[in-house]
Amino acid sequence: MTGTAFIAPDGGVRVEHVSKSFGPPDARVTVLDDVSLTIGMGEFVSVIGPSGCGKSTLLKVVAGLIEADSGTVTIGGEPVAAAARDKAIGLVPQAPALLPWRTVLDNVRLPLQVNRRANAGRALRDPSELLTSFGLGHAMRKYPGQLSGGMQQRAAIARAFVFDPAIMLMDEPFSALDEMNRDQQRLGLLDFWQSNRKAVMFVTHSVPEAIMLSDRIVVMSAHPGRIATVIDVDLPRPRAEADYATDAFRDLEAVVRGELHRVMEAAHA
Ligand SMILES: Nc1ncnc2c1ncn2[C@@H]1O[C@H](COP(=O)(O)OP(=O)(O)OP(=O)(O)O)[C@@H](O)[C@H]1O
Ligand SMILES: [Mg+2]
Repeated sequence: MTGTAFIAPDGGVRVEHVSKSFGPPDARVTVLDDVSLTIGMGEFVSVIGPSGCGKSTLLKVVAGLIEADSGTVTIGGEPVAAAARDKAIGLVPQAPALLPWRTVLDNVRLPLQVNRRANAGRALRDPSELLTSFGLGHAMRKYPGQLSGGMQQRAAIARAFVFDPAIMLMDEPFSALDEMNRDQQRLGLLDFWQSNRKAVMFVTHSVPEAIMLSDRIVVMSAHPGRIATVIDVDLPRPRAEADYATDAFRDLEAVVRGELHRVMEAAHA
């Protein structure tokens, strides 16, 4: 069940020996230390670990928003900057970041309108179809302020799929939601992803969420941020709500919690 063997990805994400420090030379803090991981095409990988261990930093390096000090990130074999330019990467930030003065539909259309010329010839997805598949067909003409937090988050996820990116990066997209709403959103994303297989890197603090969604769970340790272990989630797909109650699910929960406990202990030793 546990292991660190990586399958070479065909066109997915390859992070090799990435290190990143922040701060002035006399007070430099290493946030990522020699991090390597791969996400194959169509593979769902969650990253879990203590607060401050560098999960968001790693996600931003993969998104091309932060440059690593050393190491490389390639997407489908090309450098991350080129992949970002080609809109091969979708990003769902922690806060939905919708523009309050535009309707939901116009928010989802926005990436298409921002740079029309650069978008010419790209495979694009229809914003209203996307909204419908995320259960927001009835809310397209509303403004973000008229939606619940969960609906806003779904609109932000729909928007990230507009360019039909091969790689989807999500940083705790459901963290602001209450448990029931969160579970609904999670199962909605699971359904969508099961019929739209992207390579996904998904940051979360929730163990059941990581298990329900992922093919593999990367457990990070802190100070400096390193990959402690990678856990294979060998539950059959398609998955659904009933899987929470299975013995296999509970066994995996114990394994992931055990690993998290271990990295927390090490951090306080
Ligand atoms: N731009 C920056 N400048 C200086 N320090 C930074 C910067 N970005 C992140 N850090 C530091 O790097 C460490 C890791 O931050 P990061 O946001 O990646 O953690 P995280 O694992 O996502 O935590 P959380 O679970 O709380 O979101 C923290 O100590 C943070 O203070
Ligand atoms: Mg974070």
